[in-house]
Amino acid sequence: MSPEEGLQAVVSLLRKRVAHYDWVGVYLVQDGKLKLGPWDGPEATEHTEIDIGAGICGLAAQTRETVIVDDVNQRPEYLACFINTQSEIVVPLMRGGECVGEIDIDSDQAAAFGAEDQAFLERVAAMMVAAYFED
Ligand code: SME
Repeated sequence: MSPEEGLQAVVSLLRKRVAHYDWVGVYLVQDGKLKLGPWDGPEATEHTEIDIGAGICGLAAQTRETVIVDDVNQRPEYLACFINTQSEIVVPLMRGGECVGEIDIDSDQAAAFGAEDQAFLERVAAMMVAAYFED
């Protein structure tokens, strides 16, 4: 299985198995930008390329910290993808001290993401890096 296929399997499994994960994608840091990799959801996003520092995704990449937004409508920097999205979590993929990508999940429920999601997804992120981003 290629790294791409592996990441695709993980994002699809996350979306299928967790009810409040409505859209799940991986962005990869390439040429100093976030570029959309494997994703699973009802529709495609037009945000296939995001600058570091832009939107919620760019904030997580810049700070190298998980970002949870309970109500995306309250965040002016939010880059809207789907009309139904109410809340979002973005978890950086860290290799050493470097952000090599991130997991981005949108939910149709407000305040869908808590400490349990963060702990779980940070473990998934660490496993993704170990499996697919090591040399
Ligand atoms: N909402 C993100 C953009 C990516 S979509 O959620 C798939 C943001 O504000 O960075």
